[in-house]
Amino acid sequence: MNYDPVKVREMLSLYVSPARYLHLLGTAGTMRSLAQRFGFSPEDAYFAGLWHDLARELSPTEILTQVAERNIKIYPYEKADPILAHGAVAAAKIPLYHRKPSNELCRAVRWHTSGHPGLEDMGKALFVADYLEPSREHITREEAERILALKTLNDMVIARCKHAVRTFNNPLLPATKAMLEEIRRQR
Ligand SMILES: [Fe+2]
Ligand SMILES: [Fe+2]
Repeated sequence: MNYDPVKVREMLSLYVSPARYLHLLGTAGTMRSLAQRFGFSPEDAYFAGLWHDLARELSPTEILTQVAERNIKIYPYEKADPILAHGAVAAAKIPLYHRKPSNELCRAVRWHTSGHPGLEDMGKALFVADYLEPSREHITREEAERILALKTLNDMVIARCKHAVRTFNNPLLPATKAMLEEIRRQR
């Protein structure tokens, strides 16, 4: 482990709202269980959960400012709705706080809102864990447990997307669509 989780939790508890902090802890815990089950680094997975919403409480204008200052590449649909780019800003900022974060950790954080084709297991896990961790109220515990009990991360990603479409009635983001198409092609 290249950082102390106690110090990171302490810093985050001062940096984000209490409800967000609870969400970060819930996501990190869910990530650790998924990592133990699917064989990727539980330490990195836990940190991905802690760091993923580092930029979620910035305003759209602040997000666009950081995107410009740090020369972060974002999609046009993220530019049009800058909150969608909070993962991109968080991923760019992690190296300021976390010594040598792995590419997998940074990519997981970058794409946690939409998913993305080519995403590693850690990224797929974060896309799911962020959505259904225990403090989330848009999904029942029963439904969250049902999704978490599915056999593969790909099955969980599909079930998570179906639940989101049913619940929020929003069209899937282009990167989400592309990820689902890739998963279906690989079957
Ligand atoms: Fe987020
Ligand atoms: Fe989140």
